[in-house]
Amino acid sequence: MPESRTGEGLESLLREFQGRKGVLLEVFHRIQDAYGYVPPETIEPIAKALHMHSPTVYGTLTFYTEFRTAPPPDVQINMCLGPTCHERGAEVIKQILEHHLDIASNGSSPDNAYGIHVVQCAGHCHMAPLLYLNGEVRGRVDVGDTRRLIEEARRQAETANQ
Ligand code: FES
Repeated sequence: MPESRTGEGLESLLREFQGRKGVLLEVFHRIQDAYGYVPPETIEPIAKALHMHSPTVYGTLTFYTEFRTAPPPDVQINMCLGPTCHERGAEVIKQILEHHLDIASNGSSPDNAYGIHVVQCAGHCHMAPLLYLNGEVRGRVDVGDTRRLIEEARRQAETANQ
């Protein structure tokens, strides 16, 4: 990890919150916005700055699924498995994507090029089943669309590594 992720940048962020109560989630959000995830090596400095116990900080971090403790993949697929998407075949589409992109049960491929994160109803059920490919919505996806989605994901991963 580059020094800046745990060095001066983190120190100045934590100075802003030093000794304040009820700000832990805000701190996590700020760190994740800056680095794409909350590195585990930030737990101790956060605990010290907020006068909390490290296990409490760690437990809170891992309780909320919105926070990442590892770098995000190059291509992030957020797959809705809410009731309507599920009913319209989202689980099968997810399994096809996982198989072809080598995504394991932890939600990431071994090289961290691809990741799938399950979300619940995204509020656009008229587009079900839907997913987000690096933040861009793809609606009314069917099994026939998966080949195109996989090719698109591979192109995005290649671009990310150039
Ligand atoms: S269930 Fe997927 S958008 Fe509503």
